[in-house]
Amino acid sequence: MNPKKDIGLAIIGSGRIGTLRARLAAAHPSVKYIAVSDSNLASAEKLAKTVGAQFFSDDNLAVMNRPEVNAIIIATAEHEHTVPVLAALKRKVPVLVEKPIALSVDDADRMIATVGELGGDLRVGYSRRFKIRYHLAKEQIVQGRLGKITGACARLYNSRSQCFAMLSRNKGATPVVDALTYYVDLMGWLLADNPVVEVFAKGQKGVIAEKGYDVEDVTWAILTCKDGAVVNLGVSYALPEKWPSVGHSARVELLGTHGTLLINDDHTDQIMQTDVGFPHVYLPGHGVETVFLESSTPGDWAMGDFLGPIADETRAWLDYLSTGRKCNLATPLDARHNLAVTLAIEESARLGRTVQVPQRA
Ligand SMILES: NC(=O)c1ccc[n+]([C@@H]2O[C@H](COP(=O)([O-])OP(=O)(O)OC[C@H]3O[C@@H](n4cnc5c(N)ncnc54)[C@H](O)[C@@H]3O)[C@@H](O)[C@H]2O)c1
Repeated sequence: MNPKKDIGLAIIGSGRIGTLRARLAAAHPSVKYIAVSDSNLASAEKLAKTVGAQFFSDDNLAVMNRPEVNAIIIATAEHEHTVPVLAALKRKVPVLVEKPIALSVDDADRMIATVGELGGDLRVGYSRRFKIRYHLAKEQIVQGRLGKITGACARLYNSRSQCFAMLSRNKGATPVVDALTYYVDLMGWLLADNPVVEVFAKGQKGVIAEKGYDVEDVTWAILTCKDGAVVNLGVSYALPEKWPSVGHSARVELLGTHGTLLINDDHTDQIMQTDVGFPHVYLPGHGVETVFLESSTPGDWAMGDFLGPIADETRAWLDYLSTGRKCNLATPLDARHNLAVTLAIEESARLGRTVQVPQRA
């Protein structure tokens, strides 16, 4: 039994994921205080009312500097992570930032340097790690049931509607940098201490480019790890508008010297057809009539609870803050490597040649 510490939480960014984190945090027994901000004051006010937050503002610093605050979540858009993360670290409280840590390696390095200077505690929300099937995969590897991993593959599909939502936030939030990054992280976590050193990738443009974005419909990459293990990763966020998955459709396969693990994460095992429409968790108004249940990437509302990876991840982080219990959230160094790998994949596809992934000393 560990003593429980009370948590006063600031949430910066009251959009989709900030709202989910705030709603989940409000239900956690150790969270006694919540303050929320958003550059759009109406969004902060709406979220404050939803969760009964004690304070809201459009001034991030006013929210972070509330005396009750001893933990901070940064859930702003991808290109707006760096400034609030640096400010939050200066408060010398634990910080959780959504993936990707930043859109440039320089920004990620500024955060890592600040963590080092101030002894900060920064974690990055790679919520795929908390999907039960991937947590179980990690357990099998830790228990030695796969032996040494010599190869792996993962491919990720999603509908083009989700791609346009991401790109409308920022043109740098591409399917590779913003979505395939989850599987780069997953492979890094599963293959542990075996960083990617080299990348070769190819892509093909199509409907996304027709909408004016300089982004491939499909990208396939071969990654080589430090010990020579080879990993094949692929992504397409150009599936038809009403593709039945309301989040990631994925396959993950791990090949080891003592075992093989195949994970079908397409969700085709739970298919529903409805004449009245199924709401998309991430895209309001984007109802589908055919749906693969449980395919929403963050998770799903059911019977008044939110169930799924973001719920388990948020609880794991809050438990860690409250009781000191170990948590498996990505570190800033993991996240920085993930970013470097995704940028290398895009560079390789653009140049048509192998690209070395810069390693931190
Ligand atoms: N783990 C997951 O399942 C998951 C899923 C989707 C998105 N994400 C990540 O979560 C983050 C947020 O995505 P989202 O879908 O909630 O986006 P969103 O657009 O719904 O919300 C972002 C919010 O941040 C606000 N904002 C932007 N700049 C700000 C600033 N400087 N200060 C204060 N507020 C600011 C915007 O007004 C908006 O309300 C991104 O990093 C994204 O990649 C994670």
